[in-house]
Amino acid sequence: MDPLDFIISLAREAGTLLADRVDGPREIALKHRADLVTDADRASEALIVERIGANFPAAAILGEEGGVYAGSGDERFIVDPLDGTTNYAHRYPLFCVSIAYERAGVLEAGAIYAPLMGELYAARRGGEATLNGKPIGVSSVEAVRDALVCTGFVPARFERNMANFIKLSGIAQAVRRDGSAALDIAFVAGGRFEAFWEWDLKPWDMAAGAVIVAAAGGTVSAIDGSPLDIAAGSILATNGTTHAEMRGLLS
Ligand code: IPD
Ligand code: CA
Ligand code: CA
Repeated sequence: MDPLDFIISLAREAGTLLADRVDGPREIALKHRADLVTDADRASEALIVERIGANFPAAAILGEEGGVYAGSGDERFIVDPLDGTTNYAHRYPLFCVSIAYERAGVLEAGAIYAPLMGELYAARRGGEATLNGKPIGVSSVEAVRDALVCTGFVPARFERNMANFIKLSGIAQAVRRDGSAALDIAFVAGGRFEAFWEWDLKPWDMAAGAVIVAAAGGTVSAIDGSPLDIAAGSILATNGTTHAEMRGLLS
């Protein structure tokens, strides 16, 4: 099966599971202060891991909620079964399922599905980025003063980003903090945000989005401008034309 087709249908299936449960009673546990996990995160990941095992039995899996398998080949799926758990717990609709497919250490495809918004972002490396099957591209805004930019921060380390939040609030048209890094990155691909940055992320927060932004004509790097390393934690994803200016502003 084509890996991109597979992760698209899998993201849809897991996202539908999340949507079906969002209004029902949920078990919410605290991993640590303000870091939630719900029964829905776990149910979504269990579904995804089961489907990968059935269709790509040799593949490795890196899933946020403990779905970690070494695999026996060079393929790997990188999975956030629910990105934006705090939003989900409050029924704020900005949450998604994010699945990336990697082969021989190269990110080859990504799919991000936000079920309450009915939006499925997808791309393969070197292909076109799509939203619900239709081509999308990054915005053509050139200056940060004309840009809508977005960021995020883990609650335990929010101070690290406050100076940047304040600085960009005084330069950009506006700054958003939407609470789902994967979806925030997808919104750069779709031209809603000109830029997104965050430190302290995990591979599953950015792997799929990185493929989709690049395919949409944008630029992804670490915040210091070095090549993106999904294991290293930081990302700056932009429409390309604002990348250098954003890089120079962030510290
Ligand atoms: C979080 C969200 C949030 C970001 C955090 C992530 P989770 O993921 O993407 O927007 O600011 O850094 O940990 O816990 O909801 O999967
Ligand atoms: Ca996440
Ligand atoms: Ca998650």
